[in-house]
Amino acid sequence: MALYSKLRGILLLPILLFLFSGCKKADKTSQYTIGFSQCIGSDLWRSNMLDEMKMELSLHPDAKFIYADANGNSKKQVEQVKKMLDDGVDLLIISPNEAQPLTDIVEQTYNKGIPVIVIDRKTSSELYTAYVGADNYQLGKMAGEYIGNALQGKGNIVEVMGLPGSSPAIERQRGFSNALAKFNNIHITAQVYGDWLKDNAQKQLTLIQPALKNASAVFAHNDVMALGSRGVLNKLHIQHHVKVLGVDALPGSGGGLQMVSSKTIDASLLYPTGGKEAIMTAFRILNKEPFSKENILQSLVIDSTNVQLMKLQWNKINSQQKDIERQQSLLAEQREIYNSQQMILNIIVITLVLAIVFGGLAFYSLMENRKINKSLEAKNNEILLQRNQLLEMSARAEAATEAKLNFFTNISHEFRTPLTLILSPVEDMMRNEKLNIVAGKSLKLIHKNVFRLLRLVNQLIDYRKIEYDKQQINASPNNVVAFVRDILDSFQHNAQKRNISLSLISTEPNITVWFDVNMLDKVFFNLISNSLKFTKDNGRIQVSFTKNENTIDIAIQDSGIGMEPAEAEHVFNQFYQADNGNAKGSGLGLSLSKEIITIHQGSISVSSKKWQGTTFIITLPLGNQHINNTDVQQIPSQPLAISERALIYTTDLEQTEINDNADSLATPKEQSILIIEDNTDLLNYLTEKLSTDYEIFTADNGTQGLTEAFEKVPDLILSDVVLPGISGKVITENIKTDIRTSHIPVILLTAQASVEQQIDGIHSMADVYMVKPFNYDHLLATVKNLIKNRVILKEHFTSDVSHGKMPVSKTLDKKFLNDFAGIVEQNLANESFNVEDICKTIGISRVQLYRKVKALLGCSITDYILNRRLKKAKYLLINEAYSIAEITYQVGFSTPNYFSTVFKAKYGCTPSEFKRKQHS
Ligand code: FRU
Repeated sequence: MALYSKLRGILLLPILLFLFSGCKKADKTSQYTIGFSQCIGSDLWRSNMLDEMKMELSLHPDAKFIYADANGNSKKQVEQVKKMLDDGVDLLIISPNEAQPLTDIVEQTYNKGIPVIVIDRKTSSELYTAYVGADNYQLGKMAGEYIGNALQGKGNIVEVMGLPGSSPAIERQRGFSNALAKFNNIHITAQVYGDWLKDNAQKQLTLIQPALKNASAVFAHNDVMALGSRGVLNKLHIQHHVKVLGVDALPGSGGGLQMVSSKTIDASLLYPTGGKEAIMTAFRILNKEPFSKENILQSLVIDSTNVQLMKLQWNKINSQQKDIERQQSLLAEQREIYNSQQMILNIIVITLVLAIVFGGLAFYSLMENRKINKSLEAKNNEILLQRNQLLEMSARAEAATEAKLNFFTNISHEFRTPLTLILSPVEDMMRNEKLNIVAGKSLKLIHKNVFRLLRLVNQLIDYRKIEYDKQQINASPNNVVAFVRDILDSFQHNAQKRNISLSLISTEPNITVWFDVNMLDKVFFNLISNSLKFTKDNGRIQVSFTKNENTIDIAIQDSGIGMEPAEAEHVFNQFYQADNGNAKGSGLGLSLSKEIITIHQGSISVSSKKWQGTTFIITLPLGNQHINNTDVQQIPSQPLAISERALIYTTDLEQTEINDNADSLATPKEQSILIIEDNTDLLNYLTEKLSTDYEIFTADNGTQGLTEAFEKVPDLILSDVVLPGISGKVITENIKTDIRTSHIPVILLTAQASVEQQIDGIHSMADVYMVKPFNYDHLLATVKNLIKNRVILKEHFTSDVSHGKMPVSKTLDKKFLNDFAGIVEQNLANESFNVEDICKTIGISRVQLYRKVKALLGCSITDYILNRRLKKAKYLLINEAYSIAEITYQVGFSTPNYFSTVFKAKYGCTPSEFKRKQHS
């Protein structure tokens, strides 16, 4: 698209230029504006003049022509000229109606620098650019001479003059009388003004009838007035022939030539209109070409002697003129055709250019599209290939998972028999009263864990049945309230022991629901046992029933430890186990419950708030619409006794009291171990076993474990990885980076057995990572080894040799020992210096200091200080000349006697004896 718009821009420019150049041509055609002011345009002579002008203008199509007719009104003519000037003319052609009234406006125009051509008639001023017309004085003179000769020097003449004040009338009259002056017997007997018009002339002539009657000739200043004069003469029936002479000699119908030819008048003086010459002169002026100011047109007398010749000539000219006109119209037509063809050509050229360009573009984009399509196709193939590979891989993975699950299911089935075989003898043995307490405890532990295993195995088998065998339900109508109450009751004993209230609320005592009793019981057993597991002592669990129109809601609500939203979101996921260990289990129970509810066309949801409690809501449909015929139990199968089923879920809940290890009678142990484990059975087991050799501290969650570690500063920590609260890894990290506990070896116990998980565990700074199930003897050996190694480390820390890069915990330990030794060294002379002073300076408690010093240096703090004092005393005795009393105070003993006693106890001689031995 961007390419297209760019090209559009590139194309638009030449097209605009092309069209613009066309516009410029059009501008040239109206280059000049010529204004023509005509005094009167209605008569034949002047319409001839206009025709001539237009003919000549047709050769200048670039010029604009403005025409105004004053209709014989001088005032009007002045206004019209002013308007032309306002509109803007490049040149003015004017034929002034009267000389005087038009002089001023012509002068103004001229003075403005606008060229003025005066045609036919003049103004009273010489201020004009050019004059075009005949010499009216000469014309009058020619007329006088002609009449004088025609009358052979004798006779009376009546003169019919033009408009008074118009220059031709004045000049013709002057020329005429000057010519007649040489004929003594010729007299102008009367003069009238006909104002160039036939009617006016006739009117005036009828007023001078006597003069007319005596006249031998009439000279009218133009042919129309001459015609009028002949009319008046004929009307007056004057017997003798009166010669009538006119001016203009216009060709064509109604013109002077025809009048002469038809002998209506005797002669006419040719008076050319000068229209053509005026336009020619105008262009010469406008184009700054040389021109003459006075353009005098030739005249001659036309009478019976030459009229035919003139007519012939005129006809010839006329036909030539017509030819020219025809040719001009043809030319105009051709020009129009040329213009339109030019236009079509332009359009074709533009279209062609556009077609080529857009064709090119289309071709280019086609090629681009092909390229893109090809690469898309390649990508598509690649994706397809990858998809197929993925499908293959996922099918393989699915098959592998399937195989694994099948294996697990089969194994689980296999487990049931040995487990049952363990269970029966164990139960037999437990009934044996002769068993001692220790054996009884162990049997209880075995019994409980066999049930736990059985439960897990059963869940796994059930899950597989639903998932893959599409287990059908054996539905029968049952009172769901009673059904749940029975299950709830089986937990009562357990709940009462922990003072947890277990209640059931239902608006109706009997609500019938179609379900599979041997399936749905697993759901309720699972949910209620979960609630009990996560509810602290003195808590509350409530199961409530709400009957709706078509469904029933069963809510199991507890006041347990609850879940974080992220945790709650995943509880129904297969094998999901929360990270913090709170929801420890197989991760199958809730997933199985959901499957069971789903095949009953119901739904299960959870809402939970951390530390506030959890509510599971099961919604089951009422009636039997949702049950297929095949699902209906033909012969109701006898459900297993509730007590039987309950065992699997409740035995596991049996709380084992955490053994209180504070056996006051037991012999005090030198080393101590902190065990952090949330499985009470395992905690008890380890406590019992390890307490033989070590003082044991216990914690059943991470937070408590860490607190204990700082408080008790044990010689070793044994911790599970997955714990409620903080994890074993976090505990280790905290212990190893704190100066108070950095020296303590840590063993992490975990069920996470993969090599990566073990490496991860060791990275967490633990000294040993041990996988469950572990061999107790191996564990004990490891514990002993670590404690022993710790004692050996004393040498390592007390030596000054650098051991290269040490782990953080060891660096911390070395720093601690340096600080500790430094403080002691500085205070050797201070008699009142004690353990409290060191604790304050280092910032740890007395117990922590004691344990740390004991662990790292293998002696008590006081022993260490005493030792340092005696060593310094020994040094002073050997190297310095101080008295015993002086040395006593320098090494912080209160009296020389006490110093002497202690010194002797350590080195076998008194300080003075020692000094003597040195100097002897
Ligand atoms: C036409 C006319 C001519 C005459 C000329 C004088 O209007 O009367 O007949 O020769 O004007 O200006």
